Amino acid sequence: MKLLKEKIQSEGKVLSDQVLKVDSFLNHQIDPQLMVEIGKEFANRFEAEQITKVLTIESSGIAPGLMAALELNVPVVFARKRRSLTLIDDLLTAEVHSFTKNETNQISVSRKYLRETDRVLIIDDFLANGQAALALAEIVKEAGATVSGIGIVIEKSFQPGGDLLREKGFKVESLARIASLAGGVSFVEELEV
Ligand code: G4P
Ligand code: NA
Ligand code: NA
Repeated sequence: MKLLKEKIQSEGKVLSDQVLKVDSFLNHQIDPQLMVEIGKEFANRFEAEQITKVLTIESSGIAPGLMAALELNVPVVFARKRRSLTLIDDLLTAEVHSFTKNETNQISVSRKYLRETDRVLIIDDFLANGQAALALAEIVKEAGATVSGIGIVIEKSFQPGGDLLREKGFKVESLARIASLAGGVSFVEELEV
């Protein structure tokens, strides 16, 4: 997605060979116009999948997830990382392991917002090791629903998550794929429409 790549080039800060900071439009301040375009792009890429629900994870997945859901005209539900006071329903849960923090945390979604008949589009802001997306897929499976696709705003293709998810057979669409962060941002060469 050309607009997104331009935004990454102009505003992204390479913190190390592994980490890209995009606080000015995605992870802290949010660019609403860009989010609208991101939502349209996800809707186009998954248009054939008969999506009935978008599933994402708080906090940074919510903005792109919401815009994708708006374009697809379906609800969006976000997995919570902490137990909510009011989240007293029957919960679907999964473990997310973070390699960088070396810790495992539980995420949860109320069972009442995922049905067996749902065709779910999983959305997240970053794809690194793929553990968050895998945990969301596990929650969908637990609900007896179907993962119809995984949409990622920024994939770090030099990390193992993308291959891992594609090897498992998931249809993964990433709007920007970063080949390397060494000496600046370089993208995976792709045909751009
Ligand atoms: P890890 O094993 O490498 O830690 O990957 P993990 O998927 O657990 O990522 C931990 C957090 O860091 C996630 O956000 C993820 O989106 C984010 N992240 C991973 N790589 C990058 C990167 O290069 N740049 C930025 N900006 N974020 C990255 P989170 O902690 O769940 O936070 P949030 O969703 O509330 O923002
Ligand atoms: Na995230
Ligand atoms: Na994040």
